[in-house]
Amino acid sequence: MAALKHGGNINEAAALFGRPASAWLDLSTGINPSPWQFDGCIPAYCLEQLPYPSPALYSTAARYYGCRRLLATPGSQSVIQALPSILPEARRVMIPWPGYEEHGWHWQHKGCQIEYYPADAEDLPERVKRSRPDVVVVINPNNPDGKCFHRDELQSILALQAQHDGFLVVDEAFIDTRPQDSLIDLDSTQLLVLRSLGKFFGLPGLRVGFVSCSEMLKAKLETVIGPWAISGASQYIATKSLADTDWHKSSLRLLQLRSALQLAFLQDAFAGLDEFDFKATDFFISSYCSQKTAKALYEYYASQGILIRVFDFSGVEGDIGTRREAMVRFGLCPGGVESGNQREMSNDQPMYKRENAQVEKWQHFKSATDYWVKRQASDRFQYEKK
Ligand SMILES: Cc1ncc(COP(=O)(O)O)c(C=O)c1O
Repeated sequence: MAALKHGGNINEAAALFGRPASAWLDLSTGINPSPWQFDGCIPAYCLEQLPYPSPALYSTAARYYGCRRLLATPGSQSVIQALPSILPEARRVMIPWPGYEEHGWHWQHKGCQIEYYPADAEDLPERVKRSRPDVVVVINPNNPDGKCFHRDELQSILALQAQHDGFLVVDEAFIDTRPQDSLIDLDSTQLLVLRSLGKFFGLPGLRVGFVSCSEMLKAKLETVIGPWAISGASQYIATKSLADTDWHKSSLRLLQLRSALQLAFLQDAFAGLDEFDFKATDFFISSYCSQKTAKALYEYYASQGILIRVFDFSGVEGDIGTRREAMVRFGLCPGGVESGNQREMSNDQPMYKRENAQVEKWQHFKSATDYWVKRQASDRFQYEKK
């Protein structure tokens, strides 16, 4: 099976469209476009000593996540890949569709039977009750469709799984702005919760994540992942970013403001094109649409130096396939939040300055979008006149 493709591959887009990597506005991921900034120096010991787990990293993470049963990992991706090895008895696994495809890929690779459920299914508990799978995977909020579960809904799924010694895996890569719905503080042998510093902190290159699970599963994961998997520099920077509570508050607010602004803009801009129905998380905004429209939008935006993400669902069958030909997903564009709104953000001066310095990006995104929609409307008008 070939490796899966993901967003954020600017070098690939540069080669494909002949535009230098530095000249792209990358909206193809759900990564915070205003990352936590490291402006210090890496102490020499981080490079000169073997990177054993840092007690400072663990105590800071325990405060940030409100949970002590943590294992630091090189991104949540490493845990997704290791799940079939640490749960070797699992044969039947329920996975959301659409969802972060790495989940299905690794279970399938191990020969497990996958039952995909529609990511926006309102009846997931009934489905779980009927199927009694060995593992249920929930991505909360879900990438790419933005479906969010409340904590009590997931607790009831955990209770169902616990009745037959099944497991619930909750991928919370995008949950930092909705901590009230996280299950990370629950202490259950049947639960694994995955967290990432790649999205909210905007630091995917650091390769740091955490998993909360039983001591037995942690020990298994440690052997699969191996020693010294997170570099000393990454552990040092992760500790600083997890401790920066002022930044957490300002950033949460800025993400919410950006998401609301961009959702309102997209809904307004695409209002005349009835195939769109945008849903937002605090990290990205997406909509189902036809395959033809998704392809046209992707190519148009690329011609303007804007990279978006499209998902092609052709060939997907059954109840997960209906009305789901394709999807477009926009990461948040910086530069649009105005100073009146920025003042709410704990008076964070550097964040203001960086937002104001990116106004051109927002304007470029807005005018490119408006132009495409206008052109669609005029093409339709010409067509109807004929
Ligand atoms: C839902 C979800 N989970 C996990 C990951 C992996 O992220 P990381 O390994 O950087 O923590 C991604 C990456 O896009 C994702 O979308």
